[in-house]
Amino acid sequence: MATWSAPGKVFLFGEHAVVYGKHGVAMAIRPRVYVTVRKARRMSEVKSPYLEECFRQMGVQGSLYIRSQLPSSSGLGSSAAVTVATLSAINDEFGLSHSREEISTIAYEIEKKVQRGRASPTDTYVSSFGGLILMGASSKRRLPPPGLPLVIGNTGISHNTARMVEMVADFKRTHPEIVVPLLDAIEGTTKRALHSLNNPRELGWLMNVNHSLLEALGVGHPVLARLVLAARAAGAFGAKLTGAGGGGCMVALCPSRLRSRVAGAIKACDASPLITTIDTEGTRKEKDV
Ligand code: MEV
Repeated sequence: MATWSAPGKVFLFGEHAVVYGKHGVAMAIRPRVYVTVRKARRMSEVKSPYLEECFRQMGVQGSLYIRSQLPSSSGLGSSAAVTVATLSAINDEFGLSHSREEISTIAYEIEKKVQRGRASPTDTYVSSFGGLILMGASSKRRLPPPGLPLVIGNTGISHNTARMVEMVADFKRTHPEIVVPLLDAIEGTTKRALHSLNNPRELGWLMNVNHSLLEALGVGHPVLARLVLAARAAGAFGAKLTGAGGGGCMVALCPSRLRSRVAGAIKACDASPLITTIDTEGTRKEKDV
């Protein structure tokens, strides 16, 4: 029996644009998913296509038990976290000796397959390695972990990442003259943010700009807009939707002393707040339960 865990993630900058090879910045965050795998003669029934693929790709059969602190279909990378934790637990239980890098790559292939070809390696990489990561078309760079106090607001409206990514692809196909400059501008916020990692006021403003660009891309939602405005009004440096959009979560960057106030403002909008910060570990072996 082997138990592994993996963290969730938030996109601070660049979601959707990364699907087109642009740069983006994502950060691993505290809530984790825990997966226990045990050798078994027969496969336990798994309903998720991600999990089915994990066992298929690793060429083994087993049973598994999942405990998750991450809400699913909410933009916090729960499918990637479940996938990398499951692959890591399979790797350990069956002594397969894949490196963390290899597991991250296999997890990305699984996400891409399940999401019909449209996925960036961001979620799986960040969940595997933890920390603050600059994603590029063919590069990944670990950035110095800043102490960024974040408050996440979960709308409770589930979204389908593959569908949102497809919607943007359709918009780009029919209106390239609008969508191409929007994707470039989103990457512009990422690039400016790299110079402002120690300037939360500037970083917050860039998050606001990124949010507006995502809304122009068509991936906003009225409830996300409400939470973003409520967080800013409560004193956040900035706030934006995070992940695929169309529901799911928003993230606010706050002065430490105002985190509870921002969380209260999100709660007052009937959404679930979560005060969090960076996870620097990535996947981790846990004591067996
Ligand atoms: C989903 O968390 C972020 C998207 O950019 C898709 C991806 O990167 O695979 C929308």
